[in-house]
Amino acid sequence: KMAKLWGGRFDGKNEAWIDAFGASIPFDQKMAKQDITGSLAHVKMLGHTGIITPDEAAEITRGLLILQDKLAQGALTFTIENEDIHMNLETYLHQEIGPVAGKLHTARSRNDQVATDMHLYLKDTLAAVIEKISTLRQVLVDKAEENIYTVMPGYTHLQHAQPISFGHHLMAYYQMFTRDQTRFEENLIRTDVSPLGAAALAGTTFPIDREYTAKELGFAQVYSNSLDAVSDRDFILEFLSNASLLMMHLSRFCEELILWCSHEFQFVELTDTFSTGSSIMPQKKNPDMAELIRGKTGRVYGNLFGLLTVMKGLPLAYNKDFQEDKEGMFDTAETILTSLEIMSGMIHTMTVHTEQMKEATEKDFSNATELADYLASKGVPFREAHEIVGKLVIDGIQKGRYLQDIPLEEYQAITPLIAEDIYEKLDSVNAVKNRHSLGGTGFDQVAWQIQKAKEQLTEE
Ligand code: ARG
Repeated sequence: KMAKLWGGRFDGKNEAWIDAFGASIPFDQKMAKQDITGSLAHVKMLGHTGIITPDEAAEITRGLLILQDKLAQGALTFTIENEDIHMNLETYLHQEIGPVAGKLHTARSRNDQVATDMHLYLKDTLAAVIEKISTLRQVLVDKAEENIYTVMPGYTHLQHAQPISFGHHLMAYYQMFTRDQTRFEENLIRTDVSPLGAAALAGTTFPIDREYTAKELGFAQVYSNSLDAVSDRDFILEFLSNASLLMMHLSRFCEELILWCSHEFQFVELTDTFSTGSSIMPQKKNPDMAELIRGKTGRVYGNLFGLLTVMKGLPLAYNKDFQEDKEGMFDTAETILTSLEIMSGMIHTMTVHTEQMKEATEKDFSNATELADYLASKGVPFREAHEIVGKLVIDGIQKGRYLQDIPLEEYQAITPLIAEDIYEKLDSVNAVKNRHSLGGTGFDQVAWQIQKAKEQLTEE
C-alpha cells in the first residue's frame, strides 16, 4: 500500500470510508487533461528558471507526456486512496519516472494547482457554451426569417393582447440569448487569469516566473494577489449565475413550446425525435425534451445557490470546502451544453402551423386597440376611444360577433368618424404590418431586426 503523498506527519492509519468522504477523485478526474497541461507548464518554468536542472525538467516532461497519452487512450484509472486528480497523477508520474517525479511539486501547492485546473476547464467550457449559444441564435434568426409574415396572437397575462409576427416573437429570444452570450464572453475575460504560482497561499521563496507559466497556458493575465488567486471562485459563480439566466430563458421558451404543442393551441409541432409517447395513452405525443430543459433549470439554479452558500463564510485562503465547487460546475456545464443543443435541434426542426396561428388572431378581440387607435387618430381623446371600444367589446361578446363583423351603419351610428377603411385596420395582418415604430412588430421592423442580427452573427 502506497503511503499518502502528504503522509509525513501522520501515523499512517486511515479508514477507507473516511478517505472516501474526503476524496474528490470521483469527480475531479474530469480535469485530468487540464491538470497535466498545468504540470507541463509548471515543469517547463522550473527548468527555465533553473529551479530544477534541464535534465530533471526533461525527464518530468517525458513522464507527463506519457500520462497524457495514456489518459487519451483511457488507460488511466484513478483511486480513492490517492484522494484527488493531482495526487493520482503525481503517483502515476512516480511510477513512470521514479523519484525525480517528486520535484514536480516544487514551488507549487495543490491550492494553486486546483485553481489552475478549474480556470483551464472553465475556459474550455465557456468557449463551447458561447459557440452553442451562437448556433442557437443562428437557428432562431433563420426560423424568424421564415416567419416574418406569420401572424399570431401576442399575449399579456396569457390573454390575447395584440397580433404580432411570429418572427418577432422568436427574435425576442434571439435578443435574450445574445445578452446571455455576452455575459459568458465577459465571464471568459475574468476566467482568463492564471493563479499558478500563488502556491499554497503566500507565494514562494523559489524564483518562479508566473508570467512565463501564464503565457505557456494561454492565460491573458495573472492574479496579482496570491491569497485571492487560491481562494477566488467568483469566476465559477459568475458562470453558474450566467448559466441560471440562460436556463431561465430556455425554460420560458420551452414553456411556450409546451403550450403551443397542446391541443388548445396547436401553433407548432415538434418532430418525433424531440417527443415521446405514453405507455398507456396511444394518442400521446409529449414534448418531453422541452419539459426536461424547463425541469433542469432547477438543478442549475441549485448549483448556483449551493456554491454561493459554500463560499459565504469562508475565511481566506484555501479551505477544503472549496472542493465542493466542482460537481455543480461540471453538472451545470453539461446541462447547459446539452440543453442548448436540444433547443437548437428542436427549433430548427419544428413545424409552424401558420394557419392555426393566424386564425387565433381572427377569432378574438385582439384588434380592439386598432379601433381605439383609429378613433384617436381622428381626434377622439384616447381615453374616450378606449371607453367606446370597451363597450363595443362587451356588446360583441353578448352578440357573439367580433369587431370586424360589426356593420358600418352600426359603427356610424356610434360615431360618424368611422368610415369603410376601418375594416382593413381591423385585419390582423394589417394590425401587425402597421406597427412601424422602432423595434415594433411591424414586418419592416422585424426584417430590420433580423438584418441587424445577421450582421451581428457574421461579425462574431
Ligand atoms: N481536491 C482538492 C480540491 O478540490 C485539491 C486541493 C487540496 N488542497 C488542500 N490543501 N487540501 O479543493
